[in-house]
Amino acid sequence: MSSHTLTVAGVAVDTRHWIGGARVASAGTFTDESPIDGRPLGEIARGGQAEADAAVAAARQAFPGWAATPPAERARLLRAVADGVEKRLEDLAIVETTDNGALLRSHRRGVMPRVAHNFRFFADWLENLGHEDFDTRGHTNHVSWDPAGPCVLITPWNAPLMLATWKIAPALAAGNTVVLKPAEWSPLTASLLADLAAEAGLPAGVLNVVQGYGAEAGAALVAHPDVRRISFTGSVPTARRIAAAAAANLVPTSFELGGKSPLLVFADADLDLAVNLAVEQYDNAGQVCLAATRLLVEAPVAEEFTRRFVARASALKQGDPRDESTDIGPNIHPRQLDKIDGFVRRALAAGARAVIGGERGEGLYYRPTLLTDVAQDSEIVQEEVFGPVLTLQTFDTEDEAVTLANDTRFGLAATVATGDRARAERVTARLVAGTVWVNCFFVRDLRAPFGGSRDSGVGREGGDWSFDFYCDLKNTVTAPEGWQNHG
Ligand code: NAI
Ligand code: MG
Repeated sequence: MSSHTLTVAGVAVDTRHWIGGARVASAGTFTDESPIDGRPLGEIARGGQAEADAAVAAARQAFPGWAATPPAERARLLRAVADGVEKRLEDLAIVETTDNGALLRSHRRGVMPRVAHNFRFFADWLENLGHEDFDTRGHTNHVSWDPAGPCVLITPWNAPLMLATWKIAPALAAGNTVVLKPAEWSPLTASLLADLAAEAGLPAGVLNVVQGYGAEAGAALVAHPDVRRISFTGSVPTARRIAAAAAANLVPTSFELGGKSPLLVFADADLDLAVNLAVEQYDNAGQVCLAATRLLVEAPVAEEFTRRFVARASALKQGDPRDESTDIGPNIHPRQLDKIDGFVRRALAAGARAVIGGERGEGLYYRPTLLTDVAQDSEIVQEEVFGPVLTLQTFDTEDEAVTLANDTRFGLAATVATGDRARAERVTARLVAGTVWVNCFFVRDLRAPFGGSRDSGVGREGGDWSFDFYCDLKNTVTAPEGWQNHG
């Protein structure tokens, strides 16, 4: 085994970058750890300016060929990548779980199939792309979706391969080339994806992966003048830095950022359904941008809701994410755990009461927590924790529920539990959110727009909206036969 390979449960992962169809090492490395036991998994190439330059140059060189590749051939190659994902689903699942601590059972059954679907979906989309024509005094206006050029994609650690491929697939389908910079806490599945892309026959330079820290590799990539699009999922402060770098080159950006989404439970709701939706918010140990972390419950049912919630939450099994029976795994990193615990300590000091949890467990595990007696303007209600920490507040009227729901600087998602269709429509119309779920959570069609309002994001991706972002639209106006402009 070369010094540039590490193994996870028998699966070999190359620890170098993937640039221009070749593995490239760096002088420096950083240590990747597993949140399951905090142990190091290996040393990963630590990219910086030189690697960013090389990767963007490779993407730029590959761009004309890829852009000129017929859509049917691009679609075929994307489907070949999807085949590869499906063939290596078990390897991808165990490597992702070991690297970021999310449940193996959800990687197997939900996440990795969705990774394959991301490629198939955008392959299909490309082949069925509409080319709208308009007519003006006999002149045809033909609208085409031209690829934009090299795209830099920066992704987080909470759903590494799912979020990376949600961007990679439309960017490539549209005819762009890509440089991916995965999060430094979960670099491994991006390297496996590079292997799959090569095996599928994707030409050199079409997909590149640069490993490293955000402040080094990431910052160098987003400031590069040859980049034509930047798509980012992560935190608000990082988005501000990327926006500033992109502004210098006038590069369009797509940002999917944090949230502090509400779950509104009305007294007319199916209470068991509402409780299930609430408990679901502990998924991925609360490290989900869409999580409805603010439970807003109509006062008359609050006590009964809380009683059933506590019963359900107490039955959750916390432990090793590789165990099929585990419901809640570890949080990603000691720094994340400190951050979560800091939020909870300050909330408790400010007068909050922990109905359940409120403290660390063993290792990197945090006890599922529900806090009440929290003020609307307090930090715990206003700021994203990104851990298994929910707050519960009560409301008396529909109007108050909407006011509380909208009263943060975020606007990513909202969930409404009610048995009254008319109420659902009234409330939904007033909520500020990119996605609203009524009596459900997390389900979503990839043709629909996805993104956040206010501090939760800029732009939308999904279906047409992805192509809108990753393409330079062109309108070609053709005169009718025999037409003379000055005849
Ligand atoms: P982050 O926003 O710093 O990291 C996300 C990605 O951005 C990583 O790949 C990182 O290397 C890269 N990055 C960092 N600085 C960069 C820069 N200057 N230029 C280019 N790329 C850069 O998020 P972090 O520190 O990992 O997590 C902090 C908090 O952010 C979390 O506690 C959570 O509240 C929020 N978050 C939200 C996510 C979401 O899904 N919306 C995902 C991850 C984090
Ligand atoms: Mg890791």
